[in-house]
Amino acid sequence: MLDGKKTLFSGMQATGNLTLGNYLGALKNWVKIADDYQTFYSVVDMHSITVRQDPAELRKRARNLLTLYIAAGLDPEKNCIYYQSHVSGHAELAWILNCFTYMGELNRMTQFKDKAAKHADNINAGLFTYPVLMAADILLFQADVVPVGIDQMQHLELTRDLAVRFNNVYGDVFTVPEPYIGKSGAKIMSLQDPMKKMSKSDENPNGSIYLMDDPDTIIRKCKRAVTDSVACVRYSDEQPGIKNLIDIYCACTGKTPAEVEAEFDGKGYGDFKMGVGEAIVSVLKPLQDNYADLSKNKDYIDKVIKENAEKAAYFSNKTLRKVQKKVGFPERIR
Ligand code: TRP
Repeated sequence: MLDGKKTLFSGMQATGNLTLGNYLGALKNWVKIADDYQTFYSVVDMHSITVRQDPAELRKRARNLLTLYIAAGLDPEKNCIYYQSHVSGHAELAWILNCFTYMGELNRMTQFKDKAAKHADNINAGLFTYPVLMAADILLFQADVVPVGIDQMQHLELTRDLAVRFNNVYGDVFTVPEPYIGKSGAKIMSLQDPMKKMSKSDENPNGSIYLMDDPDTIIRKCKRAVTDSVACVRYSDEQPGIKNLIDIYCACTGKTPAEVEAEFDGKGYGDFKMGVGEAIVSVLKPLQDNYADLSKNKDYIDKVIKENAEKAAYFSNKTLRKVQKKVGFPERIR
């Protein structure tokens, strides 16, 4: 508890082009709940190198993502927005936690299995211990809550197990974190295949709306979205394409599916798709404008990066020193 608020930690990787799904499913939610918590929002660049990256590209994307956090409405004075690689405690705690994690536990991680299959030529030890670094991120800040997508739940479960395991040996050292599942967390699906999640790594760019897509591109992608021949705007599992578009429309406008059905009652898919496209533009345009303004302000972003790295280091060191002492590392001489 800091300032009477619970602590929240979350992070995102700066790989791939962020999509509308990332925004509506994660970032928008982060902004909404930020005031209720003491927050740490990291750009987890150390996780990114578990897959080979182009250095200049990674650096650029990481800065863009950090800027986007602010553009989306996270005030960097109130929210600690920082690069994971600027705070050495992540790596230091990850090492210690590695020594408390069983091979069998990591072998069971479905994301590891998926990624190992996808990057068969580079199944490195970092990819294997990725979840331990994630546990270190969370436990380092004694986070009470962690907003995560369903695909990260297994990693959060491991984090909880590690915290409990460590506490059982050394006393109450770590807060055991809870997942935070957003209420409006409708999963946004691909526009081209509504059975598949909208993904930044999709090869078909028409399946995803990217956060930096211009209005014409957004409208065009919506017009091309895969639907059905029912010809009725109805929120039903039998019409997955339309259902997804309704979810997107609701997430952008705050309306309920029933209200959307009523609004487009008797209208064709063409009108509906146009409406969805315009709703998306009205959400993304302000975000893009803020982003463009912030990007021009290099000194301001640099200042945020520096000050928040110091702030994150300060808080994380408290936990780290305690943990180092518990496991038997010698006291520092001052
Ligand atoms: N692994 C997460 C993802 O790919 C990103 C992440 C890293 C994270 N550390 C975290 C999320 C800590 C929440 C908390 O989505």
